[in-house]
Amino acid sequence: MKLKIAVLPGDGIGPEVTNQSIKVLKCIAEKFNHEVETNSGLVGAVAIDKFNDPYPDKTHELCKGSDAILFGAIGDPKYDNDPKAKIRPEQGLLKMRKQLGLYANLRPTLVFESLLDMSPIKEDRISGTDILFVRELTGGIYFGERGRKDDNNYAFDTCQYTRDEIFRIAKMGFEYAQKRSKKLCSVDKANILETSRLWRETVQSMEKDYPDVTVTYEFVDAVAMRLIQWPNSYDVLITSNLFGDILTDEASVISGSMGLMPSASVGSENALYEPIHGSYPEATGKKIANPIASILSLSMMLDYTFNLKKESEIINRAVENSLLDRYTTPDLNKEDRSYSTDEVGDYIVDFIKKN
Ligand code: IPM
Ligand code: MG
Repeated sequence: MKLKIAVLPGDGIGPEVTNQSIKVLKCIAEKFNHEVETNSGLVGAVAIDKFNDPYPDKTHELCKGSDAILFGAIGDPKYDNDPKAKIRPEQGLLKMRKQLGLYANLRPTLVFESLLDMSPIKEDRISGTDILFVRELTGGIYFGERGRKDDNNYAFDTCQYTRDEIFRIAKMGFEYAQKRSKKLCSVDKANILETSRLWRETVQSMEKDYPDVTVTYEFVDAVAMRLIQWPNSYDVLITSNLFGDILTDEASVISGSMGLMPSASVGSENALYEPIHGSYPEATGKKIANPIASILSLSMMLDYTFNLKKESEIINRAVENSLLDRYTTPDLNKEDRSYSTDEVGDYIVDFIKKN
């Protein structure tokens, strides 16, 4: 098969972890006889430095012309501490999601049995946890009207949703629930927010089309609590943009390290795969960044976009083995010797070659 992939390493640890995924991709291509074409583009702070635009047109064209996008991370502290900055790296990510129509963000939260002791939560609470968040990604308060008034002394952000935007996310949630344990939790704040009432109403109206799926409706604050108490009671959750942003960060540490969790942002035409950990500037260049979230994002790409199940599965197995061997970066290996970003990437490549 011919795979044409846009590679956007971005900022911070993005390039370091993406390099490991590229190594893995090349190894997979060789082993399974695929032809891979990768083309790199700039996004985030590095794109602002060069083009004064966090998502330049050139990068957009590159993404549109590719089968899938492998993305690293975005963000740079020099912008975080400057609330007045007009151009910010994060705008690049939002622009990219909007312009490519990536309306759904799939974020699995998996627990690796070999790492149960690394979780901040008791083992019996997390064992067996396998959650899929389906987060709405191109609407809600992220994209509503915002601004300042009254001489800059009043600020507002607006949350808005259309029935169609909710419908397509809910549809995806129902379909994943059908393929998994047939349980769907719809997250909202319908006791307060009008957008949440439309959200709940829309999901309720769809229930009859998926009679095999059991739907529960829970308020976001209760979900935040139960995710920590009984994470293994959830399966598929659908959320608005902001609620999903917060809950998926919360859920990502259940596994023991945020450095493990991959994600896919999908739309009707394109799909982007990225680790959820962000740019982690404190770790940049220190060779300590965990490459596994990026490598698992590549695995998701091979599975979801290219339907290459065997290829995706062997990557997952290689990752599981590296964790079982505790051949990991320092975030998962406090006492024993830990390994560098590159060494973990090499272990995974070696495993794939030999198995
Ligand atoms: C994420 C990130 C982004 C978001 C930021 C970097 C814009 O936190 O992908 O979850 O808020 O969506
Ligand atoms: Mg986030």
